[in-house]
Amino acid sequence: MLRRLFLHGLFGLSAVLVAGTEDRVADLMARMTLEEKISQLVQCSSNDELTGPRGERSPLMAEIRAGRVGSLLNVVGARETRRMQEAAVTGSRLHIPLLFGLDVIHGFRTTFPVNLGQAASWDLAAIERAERVAAIEASAAGVHWTFAPMVDIARDPRWGRISEGAGEDPFLGSAVAKARVRGFQGDLSGPTHILACAKHFAAYGAAQAGRDYWTTEVPEITLRDTYLPPFKAAAEVGVATFMCAFNDLNGVPCSGNRWLLDQVLRKEWGFQGIVVSDWGSIAEMVPHGLAADLKEAARLAALAGVDMDMEGQAYLKHLPELVRAGVVPMAQVDRMVKAVLEAKAKLGLFENPYKYCDEAREQRDMLRPEHLEAARDLARKSFVLLKHDPAVLPLRAGARVALVGPLADAARDQLGMWEAKGRPEDAVTLKAALEARLPGLVVTAPGCAVSEASRDEFASALKAAAQADVIVAALGESWDMTGEGHSRSKLDLPGSQQALLEALKATGKPVVLVLFAGRPLTLEAVLPQADAVLYAWQPGTMGGPALADVLLGDVSPSGKLPATFPRNVGQIPLYYNTKPGGRPQPAGPREQYRSNYLDTPNTPLFPFGFGLSYTRFAYTDARLSSPEMGLDGRLTVQATLRNLGDREGDEVAQLYVRDLVGSVTRPVRELKGFQRVRVPKGGQVALSFELRASDLAFTHTDGSFAPEAGRFQVFLGGDANAPLVGEFTLRAQ
Ligand code: BGC
Repeated sequence: MLRRLFLHGLFGLSAVLVAGTEDRVADLMARMTLEEKISQLVQCSSNDELTGPRGERSPLMAEIRAGRVGSLLNVVGARETRRMQEAAVTGSRLHIPLLFGLDVIHGFRTTFPVNLGQAASWDLAAIERAERVAAIEASAAGVHWTFAPMVDIARDPRWGRISEGAGEDPFLGSAVAKARVRGFQGDLSGPTHILACAKHFAAYGAAQAGRDYWTTEVPEITLRDTYLPPFKAAAEVGVATFMCAFNDLNGVPCSGNRWLLDQVLRKEWGFQGIVVSDWGSIAEMVPHGLAADLKEAARLAALAGVDMDMEGQAYLKHLPELVRAGVVPMAQVDRMVKAVLEAKAKLGLFENPYKYCDEAREQRDMLRPEHLEAARDLARKSFVLLKHDPAVLPLRAGARVALVGPLADAARDQLGMWEAKGRPEDAVTLKAALEARLPGLVVTAPGCAVSEASRDEFASALKAAAQADVIVAALGESWDMTGEGHSRSKLDLPGSQQALLEALKATGKPVVLVLFAGRPLTLEAVLPQADAVLYAWQPGTMGGPALADVLLGDVSPSGKLPATFPRNVGQIPLYYNTKPGGRPQPAGPREQYRSNYLDTPNTPLFPFGFGLSYTRFAYTDARLSSPEMGLDGRLTVQATLRNLGDREGDEVAQLYVRDLVGSVTRPVRELKGFQRVRVPKGGQVALSFELRASDLAFTHTDGSFAPEAGRFQVFLGGDANAPLVGEFTLRAQ
């Protein structure tokens, strides 16, 4: 009795009385009714902020006081979360604290570049730092749990959510997934550490035709070798939660997919944390046609292993009767509830449910100078130089600049999709930053809107150009052209922007094009119209100063594409780690009866991994430590990276491998290592990559995962077209 009293009220002391998390959770579960248990599996959104379709609902506060909610999403702010937490802790019978979740996708108040841009930095330390900052800020505003990282592999840039992930490659995607989980969670010991969520499990990014929420058909080998690795990587570094995806995966929507959630995630990978549904995704099994009604959907999800129903009502309404009827075993519900309570215990919420509701910290910890500096650093590293003319970029000192285009002074667009509590008024635009750096030298004119056809404003842009030595055109997508539910079927410059660019080029003045976008665009018509092209993604709060740093030459661009840039939409899906096919088109002119198009080459406009610099790099003296290795062996690939230019620069060196013959066909090359290195002007750096036989493992038709003996080729260089530098044999023993 005494022990219970302490558990209920004196949070500071309860830890002394209860030995550990397990005891605490077991004690609580022993006292919970079935309804109270199921309430822990219910997650509701705040009434004010919705990130999905609104469902029917009773007044939220009444539900919380009645102990009928285990977790909330979209409730933010130290004061507001405290108010709701108080209602749960003091109002409900068992005083169980709520878990507050939010989509902290690329920053909280300090907005970092959109995630695809972050991945373009290939800088894992900077990405981890970004999530650390996001966690510090979010946790100060009462957030316990972010629905991030999104680790979906995306091979289709039409899909609007490509901007939320790390692009097309499982190796880079896995490394980024780990960095992001570490950044959010740390060791989950302090009040600035928050639970992360690997989403959307699985293959959500494989939506057919790039249309969001659409069907996916992914053979198991492709699923395991391409789409699942970043999820597995997140699990390996202890991600606390997973979110299952909306999509139908090979005929079974993920929210009811027992094979995926139970067999793969829990049994094979040993994951023990919470699996949350996506917004209403349990209920969506009805329109999917997998369940006849909400009750059946609840049954399928519970048996598959979805622990928490986000904005769905399926568990609240139907799980009690399903358990009483013996359809869903009590042991299954206990496992689900245990995962939720353990997460709350891990965060220390039983000791102090208000641990994350700290108004003083909320005042203090937003937009701190070091947060802004981290955002500026990551933005600088994310920019990818696609075309370069050293005569125009970096901009010459004293040059008069015509800053033209709808995105030159567009604070909201610069933040990108899903900006959490990022505010346009905090963002420093390219215009503000360039004017500050070049007083009296910048004339600005938008020239057109992002997506309107009108050319009425062209004249003002051309007038600005006439007064300048160089044109900087800031074109691309608005913030709401990517993100959830924002797929596009055309990927060229929207509205009249292409025509504006052509008019600017026709002036004869040098044109530097800065492209803002949350996805790869098709740039075939754009490239000839500019002398230099810098891909800036949507660079966040400090995008303007970061761009000024690069345009003015303080730092050289160093980003590399995390996704292939197709020439046109007809080539999609186009990705570097493709299978060879039986009739590959050889390099050179199109050959008949080969796999190719009549009207466009097979090659992309820019390959995966591509990115130029203000300086030039050369890879020399590449060598393998051995021409062979055994099945449990390793070898090293070494080379010298030389900076041939007259300025310092960062290069992302990339190692690719091809398995020439396999029991299933193998990709034409696969990324197996990368290093971001700084090379002084005229200097050199020694590169060394270790390749283990286990790195060469792949999924076989019988489901096993192992490397196969045979010949392998090794490629080393600055993008996915890196040259062959050696071959080795993997011996059978
Ligand atoms: C999205 C998730 C997100 C959730 C909560 C859903 O519509 O697919 O990624 O975490 O809403 O906002």
